[in-house]
Amino acid sequence: MVPTPLAPSATDPLWWRDAVIYQIYIRSFADGNGDGTGDIEGVRAHLPYLRDLGVDAIWFTPWYPSPLADGGYDVADYRNIHPAFGDLAGAEALIQEALALGIRTIIDIVPNHISNEHEWFKAALAAGPGSPERERFWFVESETMPNHWVSNFQGETWTQVPDGEWYLHLFTPEQPDLNWNHPDVRREHEDVLRFWFDRGVAGVRIDSAALLIKDPALPEVPENPGPGEHPNTDRDEVHDVYRSWRAVADSYPGTRVLVGEVWMPDTKRFADYLRPDEMHTAFNFDFMARPWNAAELRESIDSMLAAHAPVNAPSTWVLSNHDVTRPVTRYGREDSSFAFAAKRFGTPTDLVKGTRRARAAALLSAALPGSLYIYQGDELGLPEVDDIPLREDPMHFRSNGVDPGRDGCRVPLPWSGDAPPYGWGGTPWLPQPGDWAPLTVDAQQHDPASMLSLYRAALELRRSTAALGDGDLAWTESAPDVLAFQRGDFVNVTNLSAEHVALPAHKKLLLTSEPLVNGELPPDSTAWLRV
Ligand code: GLC
Repeated sequence: MVPTPLAPSATDPLWWRDAVIYQIYIRSFADGNGDGTGDIEGVRAHLPYLRDLGVDAIWFTPWYPSPLADGGYDVADYRNIHPAFGDLAGAEALIQEALALGIRTIIDIVPNHISNEHEWFKAALAAGPGSPERERFWFVESETMPNHWVSNFQGETWTQVPDGEWYLHLFTPEQPDLNWNHPDVRREHEDVLRFWFDRGVAGVRIDSAALLIKDPALPEVPENPGPGEHPNTDRDEVHDVYRSWRAVADSYPGTRVLVGEVWMPDTKRFADYLRPDEMHTAFNFDFMARPWNAAELRESIDSMLAAHAPVNAPSTWVLSNHDVTRPVTRYGREDSSFAFAAKRFGTPTDLVKGTRRARAAALLSAALPGSLYIYQGDELGLPEVDDIPLREDPMHFRSNGVDPGRDGCRVPLPWSGDAPPYGWGGTPWLPQPGDWAPLTVDAQQHDPASMLSLYRAALELRRSTAALGDGDLAWTESAPDVLAFQRGDFVNVTNLSAEHVALPAHKKLLLTSEPLVNGELPPDSTAWLRV
């Protein structure tokens, strides 16, 4: 197949350094065929919505054939589309139609594990102990469980098959881990990258990117592992994988990017993934996990910018994604930080306060240096849904029901109408709340005070303001608990204090997340100024 070039309008080689990337959780974005499950046709029909929102790229969570044991992060075939979401021809058409509107497509690659329904795993089970088919995984012959590693979804990481061998899965038993020491595994993934780059995909988001390499001795996790000493996370050899992927990406025209999902408290180790011959960017989860507190956010901004500087990579700014609590809910809580282990049903929240802060945070994050991620529905101010009778997420089940899991941020988007299914045909795969009528796209799009209008205005200004996007910032003097910084002739002021604050002298008030009060910026709001 002749590689598809990117559209002529989309040739900026540095596009990724300041791109606005919209995350599409395809099952819940829009329903093209009226069966209650989002699909490729639904996305194609709403591309003008994404163009009008002002995004540069869309990132699809996995859209491949999958038993959906983990929402598609259990991939059965990396070269096709789940029949519930459409087909390959539809995906190819979507990629081209989006490009024609100036929107690039990023897809999700899941290299750490595959589905237990993938041909390789089925062949490994059938071939039995000691077979070459099993060498692509971590099969171990052992009387007892080979070690006590804890799953990222809680519980055990080993499952015993009927012939007595155990296989490793850092997530659910339906997601067997691949053995990255095996040449087939490396070759296969490079080939999958080419498959999608040939179809015009502009980049890949790399799932669980730090987990691929395991210590082959499979030792227990030491109490305080030093850098590179953890037996299944952030091992030094993982960088070789991304160097070879970078070479594949660089062999294509138009800068195809690698974006890593790297959860890593050590910012130096995090930045190692962004060296010039590895990934282009990685998600900045530090900022996302911080509470609504000026000192905390400032410290996070400074430390993340400092971590990125030596490798000359731009930071990313992320308020949420398909794994975490929606910002309007999180910011309305007494503890507004995010941690997986702390998720509980019924945590009280003040959605009025949370929405106000989420508006302020939307402007703040859009003004920071680097690229910006927007998770679908955050532009509508959707809250986390607590009340879901039939949950799907293994994080919920594997915690014995203690952790609500991630279904609450994956509820199908409300497009129109006064009641569920809000523009969906059939019954949406997760139920939508009855009180979302004011949050539909239809209800918001002509209301200048809506979250959607704020996002549109912010992204338009971000695009037309040369100082925004990639570059530096300089903190400016401000009242306590105010984040004020300047970028060229642009100034961002975010007021996290309980007082109204005066704005610095300016030529023009560009945008505010709340109306000014007697010329002052009220609490929990952001102003953008031209000075
Ligand atoms: C990543 C994904 C998450 C998935 C997990 C296992 O963290 O974002 O949704 O469950 O990897 O693939």
